[in-house]
Amino acid sequence: MKKLSHAKELKGTLRVPADKSISHRSIMFGAIANGKTTVRNFLRAEDCLSTLHAFQALGVPIEDDGETITIEGQGFGGLKAVDSPIDIGNSGTTIRLMMGILSGTDFETTLFGDDSLSKRPMNRVMLPLQSMGAELSGDAGSEFPPIIVTGTDQLTTIDYQMPMASAQVKSAILFAALQAHGKSTILEKEVSRNHTEEMIRQFGGTITVSGKKIEIEGPQVLSGQDVIVPGDISSAAFFLVAGAITPNSELTLTNVGINPTRTGIIDVLQAMGAELEITNEDSRNQSADLTVRTSKLKGTTIEGDLIPRLIDELPVIALLATQAEGTTVIKDAEELKVKETNRIDATANELNKLGADITATEDGLIIKGPTPLNGGTVSSLGDHRIGMMLQVAALISKGEVLLDLPEAVAISYPKFFEDIESLITGG
Ligand code: S3P
Repeated sequence: MKKLSHAKELKGTLRVPADKSISHRSIMFGAIANGKTTVRNFLRAEDCLSTLHAFQALGVPIEDDGETITIEGQGFGGLKAVDSPIDIGNSGTTIRLMMGILSGTDFETTLFGDDSLSKRPMNRVMLPLQSMGAELSGDAGSEFPPIIVTGTDQLTTIDYQMPMASAQVKSAILFAALQAHGKSTILEKEVSRNHTEEMIRQFGGTITVSGKKIEIEGPQVLSGQDVIVPGDISSAAFFLVAGAITPNSELTLTNVGINPTRTGIIDVLQAMGAELEITNEDSRNQSADLTVRTSKLKGTTIEGDLIPRLIDELPVIALLATQAEGTTVIKDAEELKVKETNRIDATANELNKLGADITATEDGLIIKGPTPLNGGTVSSLGDHRIGMMLQVAALISKGEVLLDLPEAVAISYPKFFEDIESLITGG
């Protein structure tokens, strides 16, 4: 049990950790490209280290000198069979994207993970990959890990209309389509984060995107690149909300990734009336500095095509809404139920323990504000983003807040509690 910090005010500047989605992909693209890839500002958190170790297990030489990760790319055909099952830990992105990559191998691989990963649905990836000719099966005939992937070097193309907005599903299909012979087409339900598409281009490949329609020809040969990972807006989100709801605060987050498929949190902060400034915008690196000040907030509605642009930020946005005047409605967010925890229930239950007025619905949350938050005992439930959101809640809570399973934050942000501490003044 960890006693969480309280703050009278937050002041200062912070460089948030590297982007998790891009860090995962930098290893994957480096492994399947030909030649050397270097990655600077790689996120050394548990999830991305699961990806790094998985590709080392598949015979890819990957070295970390503490500054730069160097990957000796093996090309699509160069991954080696492993005798023992590969441990993917907590990472949904790793297991799902690897299923797409391994679909084109000529061997069998078993992927397993922790208790949370073992409950996450995989049919969303297995079904389209099976239709391309790969064999994939879950534990005892279910769709849950451990997953056995038996690849084929004869993958066929796919014309796929996605049933849910998911960058993981889209990316898994793209990795398989890169290895198939002919043209594949994906129609997204809503546009989701496009890091895979961008990195296919960065690594010398070709892909055509027009709104929700994606076309890709296979097979393609990719070549190694030098990647610099920008900061993660999903990690910045905790500080953007902390700065907006803590009295007398002003925080600047530097080098934050602002790829438009990820910036829904900025739209919501602006719609709620937050004092937010965007400076030092660097369009080539898609990064900027974000400054937030204590704000007078009003409720809003968050729905539709905005949801995939802020899906991982919804727990901390719900916290933000507890401090806004009026009602905030989040809908079309049923995907939250199949994250590391059921984040609809986790957000409502844990914040209500501190005095929030949140109702869980089938596809989102209804938050009535403003409500003062009290002390209490809460849990991350083993979910990194729920743990970090609760530490932000504790900053403004009237009494002591104790957090169970605080170590979960290391999945995406090992130094989170230290970074919060560094911004607390007069606490
Ligand atoms: C991710 C996609 C999203 C997101 C996850 C990372 C990615 O998941 O929630 O944290 O890197 O592709 P879904 O594709 O399941 O929505």
